[in-house]
Amino acid sequence: MSGIPSPSTAISRQFDARAASYETIYDKNVARSLWHHEKRRRACWTVQWLARPGRLPDDPRILDVGCGDGFVTCQLAESIDGAIVQGIDVSPRMLERARKRAALALPTGRLEFGVGDGRKLPGRWDAIVTLGVAGYQEDPLSFLSGWAERLAPRGWLIATLGNPYSLLRVMRATGRRIREKMGGNRGVPFQACSSRHVCRQLEEHGCSLVERRFLSFSLGVGESSWEARWSHHWENVAGRSRAASILWAQTEWLVWQKK
Ligand SMILES: C[S@@+](CC[C@H](N)C(=O)[O-])C[C@H]1O[C@@H](n2cnc3c(N)ncnc32)[C@H](O)[C@@H]1O
Repeated sequence: MSGIPSPSTAISRQFDARAASYETIYDKNVARSLWHHEKRRRACWTVQWLARPGRLPDDPRILDVGCGDGFVTCQLAESIDGAIVQGIDVSPRMLERARKRAALALPTGRLEFGVGDGRKLPGRWDAIVTLGVAGYQEDPLSFLSGWAERLAPRGWLIATLGNPYSLLRVMRATGRRIREKMGGNRGVPFQACSSRHVCRQLEEHGCSLVERRFLSFSLGVGESSWEARWSHHWENVAGRSRAASILWAQTEWLVWQKK
């Protein structure tokens, strides 16, 4: 086995290498960020969901697993009164970026970051957020059910999953397999994962699905533009129609609540 990096070492190397350019995803003034409108939408939905009055107890404990450069983590800390927010990530370079971002943030409670996959962090969490992370795990099902175990009663688990039925994903996975066959190893793949299987598994851990929305690649040229209206329209259609979700929706944004 020597010489083969463990999955978390491989993930950490992959994201260390991406850390310097990652924050441009969330910078609307950078051309590259136009392709990542989807990530800004999922960030915004997550913060809005948890910041809504009555959703969390006083001084809630919130964990952002695979927090990357801390964009969502800092927004949670700024938007939820008295929140104790912890971001964890396996990539030290991503965390350097997160700490820089945190230095400019105005948390209402506490905001901290730590390296690791965090399963040994003490205590129960009122909300666990993990966006764009489960698909990098060897076993996304047990990754998510492990976190479901760490929720306090009435706590929230918010995650995104790649939609395995999306044509775009199938095409990308095929392209990847071809590149691998030709010797071009492109690091840890992001695997799509059926949300039906995940929901069944999480039910066994006392978590019920309460919200499910679809997202796709879009140019995101502006919140009030025709392009944003077009993508909002498809988000709604994909939520109602299986065919539309196959044709359009790359990603599912899901919210579970613990009993
Ligand atoms: C695509 S980025 C998403 C970052 C952030 N959640 C966001 O939405 O901007 C995935 C992040 O998850 C981290 N990651 C992947 N697997 C992890 C694990 N098991 N534990 C902690 N972090 C992990 C990676 O290092 C990377 O920073």
